[in-house]
Amino acid sequence: MIPAYYEFSNRAKILSGEYAIEHIPFELASMECARPMLVTNKQLRELGLADIVLSALADGGVTVGAIFDDVPVDSSVQVVNDLAGAYREAGCDSLIAVGGGSVLDTAKGASIVLSTGATDLLEHMGSEVVNARAMVPLIAVPTTSGTGSEVTGAAVIKDTERHVKMGFVTPHLVPDVAVLDPRMTLGLPPRLTASTAMDALCHAVEAFSCRQANPLSDAHARAAIDLLREYLPVALDDPKDATARLALANASLLAGAAFSNSMVGIVHAMGHACGGQCSIAHGEAMGILLPHGMAYNLDVAGERYAELLLHLAGSEAFAATPAEDRAAAAIGGVRTLLELAAEKAGMPTRLSEVGMTREQLPAVAALAINDGAMSFNPKDASAEDILSILEGAL
Ligand SMILES: [Fe+2]
Repeated sequence: MIPAYYEFSNRAKILSGEYAIEHIPFELASMECARPMLVTNKQLRELGLADIVLSALADGGVTVGAIFDDVPVDSSVQVVNDLAGAYREAGCDSLIAVGGGSVLDTAKGASIVLSTGATDLLEHMGSEVVNARAMVPLIAVPTTSGTGSEVTGAAVIKDTERHVKMGFVTPHLVPDVAVLDPRMTLGLPPRLTASTAMDALCHAVEAFSCRQANPLSDAHARAAIDLLREYLPVALDDPKDATARLALANASLLAGAAFSNSMVGIVHAMGHACGGQCSIAHGEAMGILLPHGMAYNLDVAGERYAELLLHLAGSEAFAATPAEDRAAAAIGGVRTLLELAAEKAGMPTRLSEVGMTREQLPAVAALAINDGAMSFNPKDASAEDILSILEGAL
């Protein structure tokens, strides 16, 4: 069904494939950029991933204006401001972010500061504050396959003085170019491969079933789930399989483009709250909570979940399942992937496995009910409803 009205945007140019990184010099030239700043972290430099990009730039005759490799795991306003200062000092004209969600979000935050002539990101808290025509060109090279940040218009930056995570959301934050190259994820450890894939799966399932779903976000979500079903098992069996790695990177991007437009729901609301209260890795919270959130939504979102069985379990299983059983079977399909991730990669399947206790759950439920994602969930929920979902996942 087509909604009475919807919007969909994704302005990123996608480069996907082995040696996609070697195309970056061409993209810089086409944006009339000659002096990029490379943004990454020390661990990725030690792993040699930043060097792959640096040598592609050197081979393409590009002079790197500066390298900023001080991005921590949880980025902050101060890091963003420092990055913007270093960029100005070095006279750079573009950003190339190589890393996971934190690195990409830091570069997005810096692009807000730089594009608006500000000195402090806090001057621009809120959305729709940035003029797209003035944005600093940004090329995103993800080194994990989960957040989809390379195509989303969102950045999460911590304000360490007030102890809050600030969300910046505007389509202008979508990078100009997203580069998916399997060399960037070949070395991802199995548990991180599994948890980031479960985050991508959650983006796709929630984007497909939430209130703002539309035909374009649906198409992206379906394609993402097909790739995850087929290639997550391959990547867990053989982490060096470049085809599987590229497929998972594409799945993450597709799911990112889906939820960046149609948003997410109760599973992300609970996951954000778990992360805020108990520092659980986001992808692990997503994998644990997704089947429970779907079970809660089942009576309202059943028709949508039934459609997803085709993608979660394949055409034979879909055809063999009576129509009235397909929605519940789709939840079973998610559980099957989660159990596979647990068996092959040690992915946790219950909140207690990641250290959460029953005593913590009321505070998590109270946080989750106020999360912005709740307004897009297909079914309303009270704090008591959320508490009982969390107890079921403990
Ligand atoms: Fe997520």
